[in-house]
Amino acid sequence: MNNPTGKLRLGINIDHVATVRNARGSAYPDPVRAAKLAEEAGADGITAHLREDRRHILDDDIERLVAELKTPLNFECAATDEMLAIALRHKPHAVCLVPEKREELTTEGGLEVARQDNKLAEYVAPLRDAGCRVSLFIAADPKQIEASARIGAAVVELHTGAYCDLHAAGRFDERDAELERLQKGAALAHSLGLEVHAGHGITYDTVKPIAAMPEVVELNIGHFLIGEAIFRGLPDAMSDMRRLMDEARG
Ligand code: PXP
Repeated sequence: MNNPTGKLRLGINIDHVATVRNARGSAYPDPVRAAKLAEEAGADGITAHLREDRRHILDDDIERLVAELKTPLNFECAATDEMLAIALRHKPHAVCLVPEKREELTTEGGLEVARQDNKLAEYVAPLRDAGCRVSLFIAADPKQIEASARIGAAVVELHTGAYCDLHAAGRFDERDAELERLQKGAALAHSLGLEVHAGHGITYDTVKPIAAMPEVVELNIGHFLIGEAIFRGLPDAMSDMRRLMDEARG
């Protein structure tokens, strides 16, 4: 789907509503309520990352999201036997495999697909056979993109964190080089038959060049929008993001 003027899908990541809830061990704020609000405000899908340490999303949140969402759930997880079993039990619309380190604050880099392709293929195949759209979260590195296609992933989600961090740090030459890497990566992935998504660290200031990449069909955005929602409410915060995405496409 190379659709430069097509509407880009917006997936909302609700992990950090759960982060706030878990800070007090309370039942609120409820990430499932946030997910439903995001749906009502026009989200095309909801992303939730069940981490090994359960620092934000909990198993029960996944149960409730699967039962209550109207839009597709993108279940984000590490490639482990535990997560594979959970994913196969729920069979969400999509599974996004990500690298996970216990000590990291957030998903720091992309998956190492090229070196581990045999091992990762053992996770991709059963998920695909169960009807899940399998996505691999990777850096825009040709080796990783080619390996993702080789092991049968349907989607690659290109990691935009470095691009967004370089922008925030005012390192514009390096930022522009990173954008070029993302653009070439998106084109390569598309040419190999992969659906291309992008996400991580996206803000109002960084969304447009990412949304303008014609091969990209979905953005997944969480932390910034959940933060904005504290001040403006989630629907309002989302509407500006949607407008910027549409402007970039138009
Ligand atoms: N996509 C993936 C694969 C992620 O791991 C994350 C962070 O959980 C996001 C998108 C969203 O990133 P952010 O919360 O920085 O918007």
